[in-house]
Amino acid sequence: MVHQILPTRRNLKFKLRPERALNWHQDGLNVSQFLNTLSLFFPVGERFFIDSVRAFRDQVDEAELQEAVKAFIGQEAMHGREHEEYNEAIAAQGVPIEAQEKFVNDLLKGIQRTTPEAFQLSATIALEHLTAILADGLLNLPEIMDGADEDYKALWNWHALEETEHKAVAFDVYRTVMGDDSKVGSYALRSSALVLATGIFFALFIPYYLHNVRIKGGLFDLQGWRGVWRHTWGRKGIFRFMLPNWFDWFRPGFHPWDHDNSRFLEQIDTLVTDVLEKRDAA
Ligand SMILES: [Fe+2]
Ligand SMILES: [Fe+2]
Repeated sequence: MVHQILPTRRNLKFKLRPERALNWHQDGLNVSQFLNTLSLFFPVGERFFIDSVRAFRDQVDEAELQEAVKAFIGQEAMHGREHEEYNEAIAAQGVPIEAQEKFVNDLLKGIQRTTPEAFQLSATIALEHLTAILADGLLNLPEIMDGADEDYKALWNWHALEETEHKAVAFDVYRTVMGDDSKVGSYALRSSALVLATGIFFALFIPYYLHNVRIKGGLFDLQGWRGVWRHTWGRKGIFRFMLPNWFDWFRPGFHPWDHDNSRFLEQIDTLVTDVLEKRDAA
């Protein structure tokens, strides 16, 4: 049984202050650059997701899923726009994020040119699983953002909430066109896609991240690394929290709403009101 949640496109602007880009997190440069490096993947990645889902849109008959696809595209486009501005703020501080983004973009364009559309859709649902469990981690461990700059924090919360809201959309499209896990080919493709997507993602993310910390002088900052460790693999670390959910993907019959975290969606209205009020006051 699919938990039906219809996502909504929300046009929000966060107006991040570029001068806070390298230290917007209370634990300083090393943690800020961790999330900043993650941000570089979003505009190009989300464009790839949109294209992959759009390619199969015609094959979706169910009206509700059609509606959800439309909202999914709208949400990812808004995320891409806001992360683009976020990335400009990071670049303004002398981080070579545009070159890194271009490399990821070229890679994704290469995948679009050379692989079947079903493979691209499987990569999309795998990466959407990664974003969904990352978002779930952020929502379950709000202390990660304690003391952070309000605008950066609001952007990450908004993105986490909308990723949660639409986490099953690409997955349901995949199931519609490729069949559920009783079809061995469908299951094998989505399972291998997560292994591949996770491997490629970290192969890019880790060197970029280390580079972005090093050029700003954080490579030997032990205090900074302690903060990173605490928020990733520590007792309340996000990677530690995400790990069982990552593995759940491989259970035959898995569906993203098996992790029912829809209770967090109640936070969206308050967040939207806060962001709009702040914009009106400015
Ligand atoms: Fe997104
Ligand atoms: Fe997404």
